[in-house]
Amino acid sequence: MSGQTVLVTGSRGSIGRVVTEALRGRGHRVCGFDLGEPAHADDLRGDLKDEAAVREAARGARAIVHLGATPDEADFVGDLLPNNIVGTYRVLEAAVAERVPRVVLASTLRAMSGSWGGHARPIASDVPPRPHDFYSWTKAGVELMGEMYARKRKLSVIAARIGMFARDRDEWAMVESWRNRDSYLSWRDARHFFVRAVEAERGPGYLALYAVGRDGVGVFDMETARREIGYEPVDAFPAGTPEITG
Ligand SMILES: NC(=O)c1ccc[n+]([C@@H]2O[C@H](COP(=O)([O-])OP(=O)(O)OC[C@H]3O[C@@H](n4cnc5c(N)ncnc54)[C@H](O)[C@@H]3O)[C@@H](O)[C@H]2O)c1
Repeated sequence: MSGQTVLVTGSRGSIGRVVTEALRGRGHRVCGFDLGEPAHADDLRGDLKDEAAVREAARGARAIVHLGATPDEADFVGDLLPNNIVGTYRVLEAAVAERVPRVVLASTLRAMSGSWGGHARPIASDVPPRPHDFYSWTKAGVELMGEMYARKRKLSVIAARIGMFARDRDEWAMVESWRNRDSYLSWRDARHFFVRAVEAERGPGYLALYAVGRDGVGVFDMETARREIGYEPVDAFPAGTPEITG
């Protein structure tokens, strides 16, 4: 299903750039929303905490891919709470007010890393979040908020438990140094995951899905993502990511 209007928050970020390009490539009209400089005529510059700005950005959209966030451990009160929790609240409220049926939320594998060792493999998609730091605590909150809006406000919400999408050369070198790369998510698989999350035909309800690559098969339940949205990873490390120059 192409030709939808899609709002992508965090569109100037590492995953946002890749996802925005992929959705435009599929024929969707994408409105990017970010604190950073717009890169396209349809983009808006704004802050997720700004209720009116987020609502304006969501107007007319059929789906929101909500990537904008502080993406790692940071000051809880000054960064994580406003950007990740208030920002997600603004996005979900805007989805209800503007009747946007699908919201895809960026969570992380780290949202359940506090109980990692305690689960049988593959780890089921519906294991509850159990964070281990304040960043992952906000992402656990993002998941719980998404589930509540799906249930009470009849949205279709998909929480993407994103693995390791290398943003720069240092992160790429870090993944190279790991013995265990089951969290690796190539740029190509990231494109595919988020396109499927936007385009999959689904009614109201909540789903948490693992956004990882082939190294994660057998460790994480990838069958639910295949069945529910048609996402099947193709890349094992190091395939599927262009040479990172920055
Ligand atoms: N990169 C990974 O491996 C990874 C893993 C798990 C989860 N995630 C999640 O995926 C999402 C995208 O991550 P990324 O790696 O692209 O991070 P990034 O830092 O490259 O991009 C985040 C973007 O969000 C924007 N942003 C932050 N606060 C904002 C605000 N208040 N208003 C408007 N825009 C705001 C930033 O300007 C930035 O462009 C995040 O939610 C992150 O937590 C990323």
